[in-house]
Amino acid sequence: MDKKFWQSLYDSGSPRFDVGATSPPLVDWLDAHPKAAGRAVVPGCGYGHDVIELARRGLVAVGIDYVTDAVEAAREAAQQAGMSARALFLDQDIFALGSEHDGSYDLFFEQTCYCAIDPGRRDEYAALAARLVAPGGLLLFVVYPVDGHQGGPPFAIDSSEIGPRFIRDFELLQMGPPVRTSKPTRVGKEQFAVLRRRI
Ligand SMILES: C[S@@+](CC[C@H](N)C(=O)[O-])C[C@H]1O[C@@H](n2cnc3c(N)ncnc32)[C@H](O)[C@@H]1O
Repeated sequence: MDKKFWQSLYDSGSPRFDVGATSPPLVDWLDAHPKAAGRAVVPGCGYGHDVIELARRGLVAVGIDYVTDAVEAAREAAQQAGMSARALFLDQDIFALGSEHDGSYDLFFEQTCYCAIDPGRRDEYAALAARLVAPGGLLLFVVYPVDGHQGGPPFAIDSSEIGPRFIRDFELLQMGPPVRTSKPTRVGKEQFAVLRRRI
């Protein structure tokens, strides 16, 4: 899937994957961890709902997406929410991030970027997460879709692949069904994982 493909979904005006609000599993995690602080990164951030929420909670959050229209809409939403000082957006390919990002995030939030990229790049995605997250930092992962379907995007995820794929650099702290899924239609197809960057 390339940038043109994603652009075409945004051109429709209501991309089917957009939750339209902050991801409920992220809200629940933030509610349970009110002391979360520092810098957060959200790859494939789309319209930026999660980035803006992280900023509302006091973090400096950086959303990255290579569809310019999505990034512009996200910046506009951040401005309307009064969060543009802490909700920052980069219009670029996540796999082309420069070394200035290395180890500079305390929290990495993944929702439907891992399932959006070519499955052949999943090891590269794990390496990217390892590069971006500071030692001791967290990777919060909404694992969707866990349904074994063929084709994509979204490309199916086997939840048992996450631990081994990330194990070199991350310890898997938690994996299980979220209290609330990111969308009602995703009930039974979603897991929520928390991984910690090894020190
Ligand atoms: C399924 S959408 C999810 C968007 C958002 N996380 C959400 O939940 O609404 C996947 C997003 O990843 C972006 N994306 C895919 N590959 C990318 C890449 N290599 N670099 C930057 N963005 C990418 C797409 O443009 C799209 O916005």
